[in-house]
Amino acid sequence: MGSAQYLSIFTVASKQQRQANFDNYWEFTQHHGGELLEADKDLAKKRAKLQHFKDNPVKLRTPLSNPDLFYRNYVDMQDDPKTLDPMILMLTGMYKFARHEWVGIKGAWDVVPNMANSHSVEDKISRVHLAEEFCHWRLFDEMLRTCGLTDIEWQPLSPVKEWIYEQFPKFPGFLMDSPAFVTELMGVTYYFYLHRLFDTLLADEPEVRERLKELLDEITIDEIAHVGQRRNFIGPIGMKVSKWLVKPFYTLFFNDIPEVGQLFDVKQMIKDGEAFDFNEVPDYMIARSWIPSYCKA
Ligand SMILES: [Fe+2]
Ligand SMILES: [Fe+2]
Repeated sequence: MGSAQYLSIFTVASKQQRQANFDNYWEFTQHHGGELLEADKDLAKKRAKLQHFKDNPVKLRTPLSNPDLFYRNYVDMQDDPKTLDPMILMLTGMYKFARHEWVGIKGAWDVVPNMANSHSVEDKISRVHLAEEFCHWRLFDEMLRTCGLTDIEWQPLSPVKEWIYEQFPKFPGFLMDSPAFVTELMGVTYYFYLHRLFDTLLADEPEVRERLKELLDEITIDEIAHVGQRRNFIGPIGMKVSKWLVKPFYTLFFNDIPEVGQLFDVKQMIKDGEAFDFNEVPDYMIARSWIPSYCKA
């Protein structure tokens, strides 16, 4: 890969640098997602992309032999995860990850200012960001459908967990910004591992494997931009806190999704999160994503 092109995501930046980067991100995000369709929690370009996938469906050459195992374990694990085959674990894990994301954004959508009431560039960015997250949830739904899982219901979490997610966006920035950033970073780490797992588990299913990668790439490209954007909210002390939060956050979140520990090396995922610097991101993703200027070498 030659010499490093990018610096650690934890690189410190001045207030002026961060303000300029907010302006630059706002330019990027408007082109990237297209028009905000606020009533539908959607974005025009992303909607068209998803529709293109739906209009050109692919399916497994060999359908899942045991979809009942998915349906029995996808909301809450009923069986011992050690007894489930990796394909089922991958799919129930994807549902659970997307479900958390969906609950989080549902809670936030009604709390943060809508576009008409967004006056700062940061507020505008945050509104579009949430709409993108709704698109991710739809893309995950499409990934599961592509594997033949068309009877999925998106279930709310327990009332207590739903309430916690609703409180989160009401917190002041100095408390909320580091956890929000680390959550995005955790997403990117998970998506990179998932992408590699598609190659392993879908070696004999080239159409579905490539489609799942295309769907996941749509998410990952956004999420890489979100990592930089959420990092851009944070000053030097908050960056120290953020790096310190990677381990407990990844541990806590992935403990709640037992599939992740079965399929992946969570310790290595934590190390990857702490070492994240964009250098491992493939060029075709970089070309469509966004990186803070101060993370460029
Ligand atoms: Fe997302
Ligand atoms: Fe995100």
